[in-house]
Amino acid sequence: MFTLLVYLCFLFNLLLVIASTGSTPPYTPTDYILISCGSSSNSTSVDGRKWDGDVGSKFSPNDMANISSAVTATELGPSVSRAPFSSARIIRSQFSYTFPVSLGKKFLRLYFYPTSYSGGLNTTESFFNVNG
Ligand SMILES: *[C@@H]1O[C@H](CO)[C@@H](O)[C@H](O)[C@H]1NC(C)=O
Ligand SMILES: *[C@@H]1O[C@H](CO)[C@@H](O)[C@H](O)[C@H]1NC(C)=O
Ligand SMILES: *[C@@H]1O[C@H](CO)[C@@H](O)[C@H](O)[C@H]1NC(C)=O
Repeated sequence: MFTLLVYLCFLFNLLLVIASTGSTPPYTPTDYILISCGSSSNSTSVDGRKWDGDVGSKFSPNDMANISSAVTATELGPSVSRAPFSSARIIRSQFSYTFPVSLGKKFLRLYFYPTSYSGGLNTTESFFNVNG
């Protein structure tokens, strides 16, 4: 086991997946983690996948409340799954989720939904950066 550290710094919706989906996957994930940023509860998306909220999650940093804020989408299209897109995390400083994973290649998928989120920030000025 080693620890995959993901450093994230951005001002928008972030969701993380270490996963591969599809009926005949060319890659079978040994670690499969779905995180819904900014959510304090677990939820299921319309496609049936189960997402863990990152509030109080074992993957989240202890000082999460000090360096980031949970926000909610002000608008969500009718066909858009509430999980995971209705919540997001605005990160103000270097931020790390920590995932214990097995050795080997991993896929990291970030989910974004372009809308305004509570907090009154200007999305035109948002950005993100990821280091693995
Ligand atoms: C969410 O699910 C995880 C397991 O996937 C569990 O450890 C955690 O306690 C659950 N959180 C809530 C708020 O129910
Ligand atoms: C969060 O900030 C408060 C106030 O500055 C500080 O007392 C507290 O220790 C911080 N918490 C963590 C986990 O860093
Ligand atoms: C948002 O930021 C852009 C770029 O800095 C600026 O042009 C625009 O006026 C800002 N919008 C608001 C509502 O502040």
